[in-house]
Amino acid sequence: MPARSHLRFVLNGQDISLADVRPDETLLDFLRLSRRLVGTKEGCAEGDCGACTVLVGRLSKGRLVYEAVNACIRFLGSLDGTHVVTVEHLRGKDGALHPVQQAMVDWHGSQCGFCTPGFVMSLYALWMREPDPSVAQIEKALQGNLCRCTGYEPIVKAARAISSYGALEADFLAAERKTVTARLKKLADGVRVEIGKGKDRLIVPASVDDLAALLKKEPTATIVAGSTDVGLWVTKHMREIAPVVFIGGLEELRTVSVKAGLVTIGAGVSYSEAFGTLAKHIPAFGPLIDRIGGEQVRNMGTIGGNIANGSPIGDTPPPLIALGASLTLRIGGKRRTIPLEDFFIAYGKQDRQPGEFVESISVPVPAKGSFFHVHKITKRRDEDITAALGAFNVVVKGGTVQSARIAYGGMAATPKRAKKVEAALVGKPWSLATVEAALPAYEQDFAPISDMRASAEYRMLAAKNLLKRFHLETTGRKAPVTVTRFQEAVAI
Ligand SMILES: Cc1cc2nc3c(=O)[nH]c(=O)nc-3n(C[C@H](O)[C@H](O)[C@H](O)COP(=O)(O)OP(=O)(O)OC[C@H]3O[C@@H](n4cnc5c(N)ncnc54)[C@H](O)[C@@H]3O)c2cc1C
Ligand code: FES
Ligand code: FES
Repeated sequence: MPARSHLRFVLNGQDISLADVRPDETLLDFLRLSRRLVGTKEGCAEGDCGACTVLVGRLSKGRLVYEAVNACIRFLGSLDGTHVVTVEHLRGKDGALHPVQQAMVDWHGSQCGFCTPGFVMSLYALWMREPDPSVAQIEKALQGNLCRCTGYEPIVKAARAISSYGALEADFLAAERKTVTARLKKLADGVRVEIGKGKDRLIVPASVDDLAALLKKEPTATIVAGSTDVGLWVTKHMREIAPVVFIGGLEELRTVSVKAGLVTIGAGVSYSEAFGTLAKHIPAFGPLIDRIGGEQVRNMGTIGGNIANGSPIGDTPPPLIALGASLTLRIGGKRRTIPLEDFFIAYGKQDRQPGEFVESISVPVPAKGSFFHVHKITKRRDEDITAALGAFNVVVKGGTVQSARIAYGGMAATPKRAKKVEAALVGKPWSLATVEAALPAYEQDFAPISDMRASAEYRMLAAKNLLKRFHLETTGRKAPVTVTRFQEAVAI
């Protein structure tokens, strides 16, 4: 298998070729320390504040797409074949400020300025997708950018005004699209990238088959997809992760398909990529994905990584388990498909052999007439980690519960079904009395812990209340009970 021993990408206008890259080197360190591109800031170094936001352009089915990402937790090794755009590259017509920058100036969107480059890059990414964004779209695009000074209103006003400062078609990245696409196509030579020696190596496989062969030989290598978990192992926990295998660039793992009532999601599909299909076929996923991290995290993080990390508070495993999803794992040329719920054995222990990797997840679309809802409980609405999350998939026929699959996150050492609660519901009328009678079964299903996110008592009460809420939503009220940005919560 031929291999290339240097990384190649385009940084702003420049072709970059690097033979000396540490496996855990972040893009932010490279920009600031090696290139002195210090417009990109370091705030939290954990993907929360957005001060480090840059754009990464990549070819997706031959089309160039730019996405906002967190440079602080993005590894340099994951950038082979991409176009990295930092705030220094932004420019308007004839040496003027870029429309996004000018809007931020005129609408007083900056005070101390530390967060400003990150906001500018996030808004630029939004503007490229949506030149006339609504307030809700702006808020969503800025969930991953924190500002301590402005109070956000001026920034939102600036965001709404960008198009009055210049047309998207006249933008410099739009004008360069053809040439950048051609440059990236030239970089895509289809060979493996391998840099470093011995344990201290980074590898970008050429294909999924190459990945399978590589992991069979090196089963202890760290797989990195979106790096929104692994990035923090390095920046916060100083963990050694080499050798590292970057799989984010494998287009074969970035496919979503819908066939015969089954949505199949490749392990490399990001939340942003999965959003459209999931929200269309399984609508409850739309609002859930909107509450995972901020835009930058959703552009990088994958559902495959959310499952493979085995966390008891990952947001996608409970709804996927409630829907009866299955997981396809691969080692070498061999594949096996298991029910997703069987993957989670115990805290920190998953049914994955050394050298095996997650290839895809298949999710049945809920049957017509069934109810499927998901509720995530956090201290803060946006960009917060789950205290408890409940997913409910219940079929009611003629007023009687035919089947129930209910799964929770944050209630046990793994994502887990509430099997005793399910049993207490099936065959009974779908009534408040049935729900009330099923509540004691929660004590048999779960013994949650207290931690910084919630006490055990809070978790237990919240879990029970979510079932009541689900019942109300499916029976008692015409409109679903939801908390939206512009509407006060309806008290239950
Ligand atoms: C600011 C911030 C906010 C966040 N908010 C949320 C949130 O609201 N809800 C939530 O659930 N999570 C959240 N996360 C956590 C994280 O984004 C998710 O867990 C994400 O889905 C991880 O995916 P990834 O591709 O980035 O995984 P990575 O970090 O690349 O990998 C995670 C783990 O999975 C393994 N892995 C990845 N892909 C594979 C594969 N194909 N086969 C085998 N192993 C694999 C890796 O080796 C590693 O152990 C947040 C993270 C950050 C930084
Ligand atoms: S420095 Fe805060 S998100 Fe990267
Ligand atoms: S302007 Fe000071 S942090 Fe945003």
